[in-house]
This record gives sequence, C-alpha cells and structure tokens, in this order.
Amino acid sequence: MSATVASTHTTPLSKNKHLLRWVEKMAELTQPDHIHWVDGSEEENELLCDELVKKGTFIRLNEELWPNCYYARSDESDVARVEDRTFICSLSKDAAGPTNNWEDPYVMRRRLKGLFNGCMRGRTMYVLPFSMGPIDSPMSQIGVELTDSAYVVVNMRIMARIGLDVFKIIDQDIKRVVPCMHSVGVPLARGQKDVRWPCNKEKYIVHFPETREIWSFGSGYGGNALLGKKCFALRIASTIARDEGWMAEHMLILGVEDPKGEKTYVAAAFPSACGKTNFAMMIPPRGFEGWKVTCVGDDIAWIKPDANGQLRAINPEAGFFGVAPGTSAKTNPNAMATLARNSIFTNVALTPEGGVWWEGMSDDPPAECLDWRGNKWTPQIAKETGAKAAHPNARFTSPASQCPVIDPDWENPNGVPISAIIFGGRRARTIPLVYQAFNWSGGVYIGATMGSEMTAAAAGTVGKVRRDPMAMLPFCGYHMGDYFRHWIKMQRSLTITPRIFHVNWFRKGEDGKFLWPGYSENMRVLKWIVDRVHGHARANETPIGWTPKYDDIQWKGLDFPREKFEELQKVDRGAWKSEVMDHEELFIELHDHLPPEMIYERELLICRL
Ligand code: GTP
Ligand code: SPV
Ligand code: MN
Repeated sequence: MSATVASTHTTPLSKNKHLLRWVEKMAELTQPDHIHWVDGSEEENELLCDELVKKGTFIRLNEELWPNCYYARSDESDVARVEDRTFICSLSKDAAGPTNNWEDPYVMRRRLKGLFNGCMRGRTMYVLPFSMGPIDSPMSQIGVELTDSAYVVVNMRIMARIGLDVFKIIDQDIKRVVPCMHSVGVPLARGQKDVRWPCNKEKYIVHFPETREIWSFGSGYGGNALLGKKCFALRIASTIARDEGWMAEHMLILGVEDPKGEKTYVAAAFPSACGKTNFAMMIPPRGFEGWKVTCVGDDIAWIKPDANGQLRAINPEAGFFGVAPGTSAKTNPNAMATLARNSIFTNVALTPEGGVWWEGMSDDPPAECLDWRGNKWTPQIAKETGAKAAHPNARFTSPASQCPVIDPDWENPNGVPISAIIFGGRRARTIPLVYQAFNWSGGVYIGATMGSEMTAAAAGTVGKVRRDPMAMLPFCGYHMGDYFRHWIKMQRSLTITPRIFHVNWFRKGEDGKFLWPGYSENMRVLKWIVDRVHGHARANETPIGWTPKYDDIQWKGLDFPREKFEELQKVDRGAWKSEVMDHEELFIELHDHLPPEMIYERELLICRL
C-alpha cells in the first residue's frame, strides 16, 4: 500500500461508536499495517486500481477497445463458490437444516479467531460500507465489509452502493449494520513480496444468522468474497425475510411491455449459470415488433408485500457479476454493451491487443491469446488438448446502470410489482419447455422439487442432476423445510397472488442437441406466461400443470415444427413417475420440517400421473 492511499484514508469516516469500536477490535485481531476507510470516490477507485496494476493483480486493458476496464487472473484453486466450505452457524443444528453445513457457533467462533489472528499482517484493512438496495429504499439493508483485498473493494464498488452516502446512513443509527469480515488469509512478513492472487488453501465462508454476521476466510473470488451478494443478500437476508414476512430470492427481475404499452413484471429463479442474466436482458426476436423487455436485476430479488397485498421487488445489487463464456453479440447483445466499459474481467482470456475473449464470444477465436491461467492458447492447442481459453466460471463485473435496457424503475425505492414467478432448471430430459402451476401451493411444490444439472459456478461435479429448491440450495440461511413453509405462508399476506410457472430451456432430443433455440426465442414462452397472467391465453390441462398447445404460442418470425414443439412439451408419465420418486429423496431429508401442503401436493401429483 503506498503512503498516498493510506494517508488520505486513515481518518475514520463514521462517528458511529459501535462501528468504530468494532473496527478497532477487528484491527487488534487481524493486525493490518494500515486501515483504509473507503469513501467510494472516483479518485480512490483509480488509486486502488493503480495499486492492483502495480501488484500484478490487474492488467489495464487497451483503452481504445475496452475503456476503463481491468483484467484479473485468479489463483487456479480459487475459481468458484465453495459449497462444502460454506457454513450456517445457527445456535441449533436443526435451525440450519440438513442441506446446510453446520457448526456450533461457539466452536466456529474459536476457530475463526485462530484463523483471523494476525491474518492481515503486512496488508491494508479496508473499511467498506455498502447498501444492498437503493440507499433511499425502505427495503434496503446495510453492511460493512472489512477486507484485506483491494480487488474486493473495486468489485464491490460496482456490485453495491458504497462509500460516504452509506456512512451517513450508518451515522443516523436507524438501520442495523451487518458486520462482514473478509480476509484472503495470507499475512505478509516484513519485506515479503505479495503474490498476484493471494488466497489460502483453507477456506471458510461462515454465517451467524442470529447475530447477523458473516466471516469469510481464504478466498478472493466472487460470492466467497463479495460478501454483499450471496452471503448477505441471500443467506443472511433469507433469515431476516423469514422473521419479517418477506422473501430474499435467487431471482432475476424483468419487465415486459406489450405493443399497447401494458407493463408486467416477472421474477425468475434459475440455479447458478442456468440463464438468469441472459433472460433478464433478453431482446425480443423477429415477430415481436413493439414488445420490450427491461431489466431490473439479474441475480437476486428482495420481494415484499405492500400495503395492498401486492408483491413488490427490489434488486439489492447495483451491478452484474455475470458468466462470461457463452456471452456474445448474438446471444446477449445487451450484456455485451453493458460490459464494454468500466468493467472488471476475471479468468477470461487476454488477447495480444490488450482485449478479452472467451469461448462463445465470437465465431472466430483469436489466432493466439493467453488463457485464464496465463498460458499460451491457440485454437490448435485447444483442439489438441481441450484447453479452455476462459475458465467456465469466468466472470465480468459491470455496472447495471450501463445496461441498455435497464428498467426506468430499477432503483425505485418501493420496487416493482411482481405478477408472475418462474422457476427453471437445466434438464436434458423429462421436464417440458414450460408449464403453469394450478395454484400457489402447487407452484411452491414445483419450486421446492426443482432439479438442475450442476454447473461450474460451484466447485464440484458438473452435469449431475441435483435437487435445488427455488435455486436456493446453496443460499438458504435456514432449514429448507421451514423455507417451504414460509413460501406457503406468504400467500396469506397477498390479495393478488402471482401465477407460478416452470421453464426448461435445456431439454435435449435423441441426437443430444438442445430442442429449443433459447435466448431471445424465450420471448415466445414469456409472452404466453404474461398472457396467462392477464387471462388472455389458453392452456391445456396435464398431470403436472397447464401447458400451451402449439397454437397458443406466437410463432411469427420463427419456423418451428409442430412435432418438435410436441417433443419439447411432452409429459411422459413413466419418466415423471421416477421424477416424483426423486422428489421423495429430498422430502425424506426434510421430513420433520416439511409443511403438510408439500405432502398433499405430492399425493395429488401421483394421483394425476
Ligand atoms: P449465475 O450468475 O451463476 O447466477 O448464472 P445465470 O443464471 O445468470 O446464468 P447465465 O445467464 O449467465 O447463463 C449461464 C450459461 O447458460 C451461459 O453459458 C449461457 O450462454 C447459457 N444460456 C443462457 N440462456 C440460455 C438459453 O436460453 N439456452 C441455452 N441453450 N443456453 C443458455
Ligand atoms: C452464482 O453462483 O449464483 C453467482 C456467482 O451468481 S457468485 O457471486 O460467485 O455466487
Ligand atoms: Mn447467481
């Protein structure tokens, strides 16, 4: 840390006694060389980025091609969320439930104390205040992250509202602050040179839901380190939401405007790397002239009933931390426009011109580049060795405000009204393109029993189907059975109940190819959903729910054969019977907390099959 940055930011920027005391205590524990109070200014950001360039963590990209953009390569062992190192340390094990790792809070605190003892030696501790949600929103929540990673600070600056405005709120002492401790876990001895991407083999991502605290050790990557995101806005927020009667969900929020100007907002929960960012900013295809899709958020929704019993949602984030591979001008032009400037790229490939590239960005790969590990990569090498230029979980960090279709109400402090909820997974077989739940409790059952193939967003086996209820398996801060109960209960505070749907863009045919073109063509499914919400579309009753017939979908602009659609929508009773058997597995695990509605819904489904 240069004298310039440290000396201009050593003065505390808050007068809040609790905060000052906590920072002091944590500095005593972790023993950083400097303490830097983050003001969130442009100048500060430039200084931090310059530091990161000097250290080798960042490479500044070609200003002409990628204005104000930076490139980072993580350690090869620190590339995704680590679910087996993620803990919910509630007082009782039962409160965390069988789907979460649990440890006695007393035992865990002692272990963390040991790990954090002196862990910031030789480094700077940044005091980073952030607001999840617009600063002026009554639905927003405040946190302060103490981190020894400047990379985390500059990423959080894009992903959340940070800095002086947040300190002001903290000084008013009206909102509870969630303390978030983060260290990469690599103290430096005097004179010891730092590495490009410091991280520790031992990782702990720990949540204390009762005291609303987060402690993260050993990783600098994504959801492990940007603590406002999954740790706060989902794991901690889901427990707050349960207590206060609202919902914190792994959902995108989008607006659909029809040619008459009628606007409908929907929220959709798909597991990690299953298409939220793409769906959230989709451009309607040919044949949909006059239709508009606008984006409120691409990953997390906080949803609350208003005084009239209407669900309203805010996006607690201010940026996108999006999957790079597969993102292109063809599949997601709005994402490409968003990430074109003021962005950070992590674990993609670096081209000789000082640009970035990833698989799927363009049809013709660069003749040569450096891959995400820093090794020479050519299309020939890829062919011979199978080496990927970008890591499958490579990501861009970009301001949401730069999205060409950002919704005019995306920062509305009161959120946007939600008329439909969509669940979706990545399923090669069995699950049709789209179906609608018969009612709320049927919809909750559909969400609760959702399955999806695992992706590179988390360390582990890619491709295996696992149950991922409401796309929240890795993100629910309490017992999954209680979470289902909360969903069931939510309906009682609603006068207008959103309709619930399930989609699957990933069904494959006999030939192993996707049956559905996806991306912008998903608009055809979205239109049917919106029409159903307004009572304008017909549907077919099947054992699993309402489905569209071929003629209920608007096909203008796409030549899609009737037989192929029927294959996509097929409800195979045999396959569904074994699907329902798989539901059982999760339900047995959760049985003592399972709301009775889940059992009834299951019985009804079995009868219908
Ligand atoms: P997280 O940020 O991890 O929560 O992921 P996400 O849900 O936002 O997923 P994202 O939109 O980034 O998509 C992940 C991958 O799925 C990318 O490689 C996309 O190209 C691919 N994908 C997205 N939508 C579709 C689709 O409609 N069809 C197909 N076949 N692939 C899709
Ligand atoms: C996800 O894995 O769902 C993400 C990326 O959105 S991370 O922020 O790393 O959790
Ligand atoms: Mn996500």
